[in-house]
Amino acid sequence: MKPLIAGNWKMNGLAASIAQIESLIAKFDGAVPDDREVVICPPATLVATMATQFSDEAIQIGGQDCHANTNGAHTGDISAAMLSDAGAAFVIVGHSERRADHGENDAIVKAKAKAVLLAGLTPIICVGETEADRKAGRALDIVGMQLDGSVPDTEDEIVIAYEPVWAIGTGLTPTIEDIAEMHNFIRSKVSQGTRLLYGGSVKAKNAEEILAVANVNGALVGGASLQAEDFYPIVMAAPGGS
Ligand code: 13P
Repeated sequence: MKPLIAGNWKMNGLAASIAQIESLIAKFDGAVPDDREVVICPPATLVATMATQFSDEAIQIGGQDCHANTNGAHTGDISAAMLSDAGAAFVIVGHSERRADHGENDAIVKAKAKAVLLAGLTPIICVGETEADRKAGRALDIVGMQLDGSVPDTEDEIVIAYEPVWAIGTGLTPTIEDIAEMHNFIRSKVSQGTRLLYGGSVKAKNAEEILAVANVNGALVGGASLQAEDFYPIVMAAPGGS
């Protein structure tokens, strides 16, 4: 399986940040090696510009969220069809920051994932337990429920990102054994061809170890995706695939 390394810029990035992708491409000697895939999910304001500018260099562009409807009276929202029109290939749905900041539950996340598929794009569906869930020994139960509730029944390509909430932006990560256990569990619930990403404080120093775990088919990277010098070694730490 070809690993997928996705950068989630969250609410970071102005036009000047596009220079980071130019320097990333320079580090790749012109284009991403074809044994791995790279997706950058910039803020919506940069999707069209970046999708146009980097279409030849194998840098794919994704949105960070979308509305479940195609169009309509939803001021401030953006649809998957609009992201597709702007050149995106992926859309993150159900990120824990959306679930927490905007009260998005599993049913909403599933509706958004379906909208992404309807627009012909690939959803990156996020799941992950809180610190309290993990301490209570409920991490597998919670993630199992999130998968049951948020993942549409489909033959189309989807990507699942396991992001323990307590590992996001904290510098903390689960043990390698805990990552392996969770990814084996998720694999038992989704089809063989579905790529499973790990996210939460992935950095150059831990990427190789995490990306070598069975059923970890890539990473969803926040803070360390903003600068080319931090992101490049993470992309290259993934074992190549086809
Ligand atoms: P960090 O890599 O900054 O911990 O963020 C992870 C994340 O939330 C990616 O979606």
